[in-house]
Amino acid sequence: MLIQKFLFVFYISSLFWRENVCADNRKFPPDFKFGIATASYQIEGGWDADGKGENIWDHLTHQTNLVKDHSTGDITCDSYHKSKEDLALLKDLGVDFYRFSLSWARILPTGYIDGQINEAGIRYYEDILSELEKHGIEAMVTLYHWDLPQKLQDDFGGVLNDTFIDVFANYAQLAFELFGSRVKYWVTFNEPFIICQQGYENGNKAPAITKAPGIDLYTCAHVVLKAHAKVYHIYDTFYRKTQKGKIGLVLNTDWFEPASGDPKDLEASERQLQFQFGWFAHPIVYGNYPQVMIDRIGERSIREGFKTSRLPKFTNSEIEEIKGTFDFIGLNHYTTTLTRWKEDEAIGKPESLKDISVEVFKNPFWEGSASSWLKVVPWGIRRISKWIKDTYKNPELIITENGYSDVGGIFDDSRRINYYREYLSNVLEAIYDDGVNITAYTAWSFMDNFEWLEGYTEKFGLFSVNFTDPARPRTPKSSVNYFKNVTKTKCVVEQCL
Ligand SMILES: *[C@@H]1O[C@H](CO)[C@@H](O)[C@H](O)[C@H]1NC(C)=O
Ligand SMILES: *[C@@H]1O[C@H](CO)[C@@H](O)[C@H](O)[C@H]1NC(C)=O
Ligand SMILES: *[C@@H]1O[C@H](CO)[C@@H](O)[C@H](O)[C@H]1NC(C)=O
Ligand SMILES: *[C@@H]1O[C@H](CO)[C@@H](O)[C@H](O)[C@H]1NC(C)=O
Repeated sequence: MLIQKFLFVFYISSLFWRENVCADNRKFPPDFKFGIATASYQIEGGWDADGKGENIWDHLTHQTNLVKDHSTGDITCDSYHKSKEDLALLKDLGVDFYRFSLSWARILPTGYIDGQINEAGIRYYEDILSELEKHGIEAMVTLYHWDLPQKLQDDFGGVLNDTFIDVFANYAQLAFELFGSRVKYWVTFNEPFIICQQGYENGNKAPAITKAPGIDLYTCAHVVLKAHAKVYHIYDTFYRKTQKGKIGLVLNTDWFEPASGDPKDLEASERQLQFQFGWFAHPIVYGNYPQVMIDRIGERSIREGFKTSRLPKFTNSEIEEIKGTFDFIGLNHYTTTLTRWKEDEAIGKPESLKDISVEVFKNPFWEGSASSWLKVVPWGIRRISKWIKDTYKNPELIITENGYSDVGGIFDDSRRINYYREYLSNVLEAIYDDGVNITAYTAWSFMDNFEWLEGYTEKFGLFSVNFTDPARPRTPKSSVNYFKNVTKTKCVVEQCL
């Protein structure tokens, strides 16, 4: 009975959020920037071209059966050979910046600075940067979007080992040297939550190591945070003054909406946000992990028989080193999830979900997409933005990813246009009504591409790519025209005030 009542309330409220009943007709601020994003492994292909080394995604796709359609990123959009054409399309879109990532193993095939340096790889990125400059498009460059050189995984266990910190710092410093004069925004890591939680706990991303749940993911995050801080300081000390860019970290989270007004559900929502977003945001803003993580993981670890917490501790000097290491926070946000309080999971084998112990679920009336996890909930982006403002002292916030998936082959993609219109409308409300300092917005993604373990079964692109044609032709979907209108008018509806 209660559940029926509950579903009915959500059904009624979902009706209010349909179509563009609430699309905002104000213009974005004059200095607000629009961009579009990709990632190296998802679009480049050329997996072993001109001296590129193997990375953990090459390894996973070649050695395992984990990818749903048994596909790989060996060729994918072949952007390695088509970047001139792609950059012309970007120009036509009217974006202010392009967010892309460097393939570490394309530049340093073994991952190490004192190994071979691959000139062809360097030239590839230099060409992209000069083309962008020519078109007047700024570059937002991600140093690490999940494609770790395989040799670093093999030699010392990749992101689980403190050795990673210096190896990553050397690579980052080389990237600043080579490219920094033409890069406006640097991102150290894309979605460390996914790197650690899926790479080392549930196995949904490379290297898909699941042997120590409840332990490895926290070690991974600890190493990533220290590596991030080190690279921030290198940029801040040696490059900021001459290169005049900004550097930050990109974090992903849903908005976690309490399932009811019960204070216990509010607490569950806050706890879930702290365990996902706060895990990384709290250290870079305040120097340490959220107290709720320290307390809960510490207490459960002892009851499980560990001598110390499974959540590693920062030393005082590490806390000082990590605090404040961002010029902006990047937010990757796609959807909302409901949270309900529940009894803590019983003590037993460690697992990060037991550490959180929150019930999460979706409203069945929310519009879906091709991705099971992605429900269209436009107001969620406003609430998460406001929560970040209130929780982390109003940082400069850049939406670094936001987008919608379908199964592909849909050129008149009106549901994607609807998604962008409604989400952008809520970004406007976050800016003007909630005072959130959102300075830029990035759509995911420029073109259909290799969607990790989902292979080519979920398409997020504004441009469609024909993956069975060797020439990989790009075709604009209707959303291209919509996004062009937005970048041109800074307005999400036909006519703004
Ligand atoms: C960490 O890397 C070093 C090499 O730099 C290696 O000697 C050590 O065994 C590695 N630790 C683990 C736990 O793999
Ligand atoms: C927003 O962030 C930018 C960049 O850090 C800063 O210049 C600006 O003053 C901030 N605006 C507000 C309203 O805080
Ligand atoms: C994709 O390319 C293949 C091979 O050239 C062609 O047969 C097919 O019609 C193309 N599909 C679309 C939707 O254009
Ligand atoms: C883009 O704007 C033009 C001019 O206002 C309008 O005719 C067209 O329908 C818009 N396209 C989309 C996809 O919104």
